[in-house]
Amino acid sequence: MTLEDQLVEALGAAHVVTDPEVTASYETDWTGRFRGSARCVVRPGDAGQVAAVVRLCGDAGVPICVQGGNTGLVGASVPVDGAVLLSTARMSSLAAVDEVSAQVTVGAGATLSAVQAHVRPTGLDVGVDFAARDSCTVGGMVATNAGGERVLRYGTMRAQLLGVEAVLADGTIVSRLGGLPKDNTGYDVVSLLAGSEGTLGVLTRLRLRLVPLLAGRAVALVAVNDTGAAVALVRMLRDRLPSLEAAEIFYAEGLALVRSQSALPAPFDQEHPAYVLVECAQRVDPTDELLEALEAAGAVRDATVASDSRGRHALWAYRESHTEAINAVGVPVKLDVAVPLPALAEVVAALPDAITAVEPRARTILFGHVNEGNLHVNVLNAVDRGEQVSDAVLRLVASYGGSISAEHGVGRAKREWLSLSRSAEEIAMMRAIKRALDPRGLLNPGVLLPED
Ligand code: FAD
Ligand code: MLT
Ligand code: ZN
Repeated sequence: MTLEDQLVEALGAAHVVTDPEVTASYETDWTGRFRGSARCVVRPGDAGQVAAVVRLCGDAGVPICVQGGNTGLVGASVPVDGAVLLSTARMSSLAAVDEVSAQVTVGAGATLSAVQAHVRPTGLDVGVDFAARDSCTVGGMVATNAGGERVLRYGTMRAQLLGVEAVLADGTIVSRLGGLPKDNTGYDVVSLLAGSEGTLGVLTRLRLRLVPLLAGRAVALVAVNDTGAAVALVRMLRDRLPSLEAAEIFYAEGLALVRSQSALPAPFDQEHPAYVLVECAQRVDPTDELLEALEAAGAVRDATVASDSRGRHALWAYRESHTEAINAVGVPVKLDVAVPLPALAEVVAALPDAITAVEPRARTILFGHVNEGNLHVNVLNAVDRGEQVSDAVLRLVASYGGSISAEHGVGRAKREWLSLSRSAEEIAMMRAIKRALDPRGLLNPGVLLPED
């Protein structure tokens, strides 16, 4: 019997796809930069079926690539050639919200927006949010330790994670979904799987901590002179406003690109060099305190504030539309980095020259999450020189004590630069963990760890 026949026996014919017209949609990443070809796509319905797939692939010596919503931006969700692509789409269960503990257990294949819609009627919310919410899955968010727009207040996905059910490379099912917030009984196996990018196990269910759903919201779009002014503004708002939930940055060139790809009107009468978008959230309307804080802030060139849902979404659209607008004009080299906040302005100033030195035709669009010093460096017209551009940007970032990946992960895109952010000892420790849990390297080969 072929591997495909065995997989059909385990999952049913409807859940083993070999038709190239269908498998094609799983084989290219969201940016269009990374491709692979899968031997077949399997869609198991629960941990037991995942374990069966993992065992069969192990017996056949065939690697597995786990894919959730395929919105990842570092090429980690596309298969190495000949791998079995394991889609988590069918594992989208939503258990009843545990309102007493403010927790919920969900299937790894549930999308973020499905979980949001499930928990919000109980007055609770998910602490992590970002623009891919309708497609990205909770499993993918945990596997990449996703960050997004609310890290300032609630931390990254790892901080929301209280438990996992996962299938290891030998087919063992590990289940730890109790959700005790205090539980110091040895190595943190739950946390280890966060950020593991599909290389240590297949996440099948997750236990998430929930946060209060805050209905009082106000968003301000503030025009400023430059990155330094943006950092100073965010510092001041952060110190003054406990309700501050998001602080994002983008620049004139990004706004122009977004507007060229959409029908969004200009936010102000005139153009400005840089823009900070902030959101405050609490139980009662925070508009007055946000306005007062903005009035007290120096260096504000212009500002507009929205408190109603429509107005807030309209302001967020300027920021959240960046990713799609960039993709619409070409395949970008995307480098998600973080630098210490005091160095952010200097790095932003140095980046364009560092990039054009290796690719003079490059068009660089920057935006990001200010408070974490998290910059999204998007380089257009440079995909043929992707390695050189990555090298220049990541070395610059590392020279300022930054990280080569703030929130998207390492994936295939950055694994060769891992040593810029992790010491030889740390990489050796990671390799030892990988060898212990996946000695044959069957789970997502080519992702995260550099070539040995
Ligand atoms: P995929 O892309 O399918 O997979 C990503 C990685 O996770 C791969 O390594 C894959 O093997 C692994 N994986 C997926 N599911 C599992 C599982 N069940 N078990 C084990 N491994 C698994 N990211 C941020 O951090 N912050 C942002 O603000 C943000 N904004 C975005 C906006 C847009 C428009 C887009 C397209 C992407 C954005 N991202 C952002 C990146 C991306 O959405 C996140 O990384 C997301 O967490 C990936 O989820 P996914 O289900 O699409 O995972
Ligand atoms: C975002 O913050 O919008 C993202 O992380 C997506 C991107 O970098 O394009
Ligand atoms: Zn981001």
